[in-house]
Amino acid sequence: MANCLAIVKRKALLYFAANQALIPPLPIAGAPMSRLTFTRWLQQSPVPLPQDLIQTLQITADCCRNISAAIARGALTGMLGQAGSENIQGEDQKKLDVISNDMLLAAHAQGGHLAGMASEEMDDPFPVTTHENSRYLLLFDPLDGSSNIDINAPVGTIFSVLETAPGSNTAEVTPFLQPGTAQVAAGYAIYGPATQLIITVGHGVDAFTLDPDSGEFLLTTSGMMIPEETQEFAINMSNQRHWEAPVQRYVGELLEGKTGVRGKDFNMRWIAAMVADVHRILTRGGVFLYPLDSKTASKGGKLRLMYEANPMAWLVEQAGGAATTGRVRIMDIAPTGLHQRVPVILGARAEVERATGYHA
Ligand code: AHG
Ligand code: MN
Ligand code: MN
Repeated sequence: MANCLAIVKRKALLYFAANQALIPPLPIAGAPMSRLTFTRWLQQSPVPLPQDLIQTLQITADCCRNISAAIARGALTGMLGQAGSENIQGEDQKKLDVISNDMLLAAHAQGGHLAGMASEEMDDPFPVTTHENSRYLLLFDPLDGSSNIDINAPVGTIFSVLETAPGSNTAEVTPFLQPGTAQVAAGYAIYGPATQLIITVGHGVDAFTLDPDSGEFLLTTSGMMIPEETQEFAINMSNQRHWEAPVQRYVGELLEGKTGVRGKDFNMRWIAAMVADVHRILTRGGVFLYPLDSKTASKGGKLRLMYEANPMAWLVEQAGGAATTGRVRIMDIAPTGLHQRVPVILGARAEVERATGYHA
């Protein structure tokens, strides 16, 4: 009987495949309802945002929409693959790393709302001198998880906004070297099955989804909260033999599952794009670790403090979670370099506290 049904289904599929033109287009299920646009959200912030900050965030969102379109066309326009250059960190740059970086620079260079920019893909800060009163600094990872680009898996853009005194020399690194606690806005865009923008200005975390028809980011989740309980962790297990003892212990206990001290089984996910791993944690919980290991210890860790760890740490804290290096709260670190690297443990508060406690 089951076999019969399978044959009927197969015949039906073959028929429809051969008669594509006869099939009426599917109605679009769930066409966007009336939702708050990102532009309105910026204007309606519970604590009014300065105009220059609104402009910074609006232009960043518009640019992320354009980066999303450039990525979607990547294979069609020959934009996948290596650029043939290296960034200051000795990493091979993808064409889309460089293109995304240039798009953000170009979008903000003329506005007069920023004092300067810094990026994973540029050795030095990029000063903007069009407006003598400008005081905002934008730091970004233009394309996070760029090894995913060529396999059509999720990538993102991470950004952090700081404030400096008007007139400070933003060709220098010094105005940028502020702890994560000084951020005035932080967020990321994720380019996955949908393009989404996740942001905080210090009043919780809100998520917007790009409506491909109108080109607007529309509010889809307000007040994201990381569930306290989790059975999911994210770590690159191939580095296991390089980890320090506290991380060996913490992950070892997760792997023991029901039979160990945790008394429950854990599942593992690793997308190799921090944006996507953090997005999963903000959406359904879990813990993410890129801990110190003997491979990266001489550099201080793998992930970059100013445009990866700090903005993600603030988002996670705003969503009720925690973020540490295993030893200190990430947002309390006094930075010493624009491209400084740090170990990262973030996500569900109890898990981060447990892993951090093992380092004590
Ligand atoms: P980027 O593409 O901006 O250099 O960042 C990649 C980072 C991060 O997104 C991800 O979590 C991690 O590198 C993946 O590292 P492994 O390749 O060691 O798994
Ligand atoms: Mn990155
Ligand atoms: Mn990057």
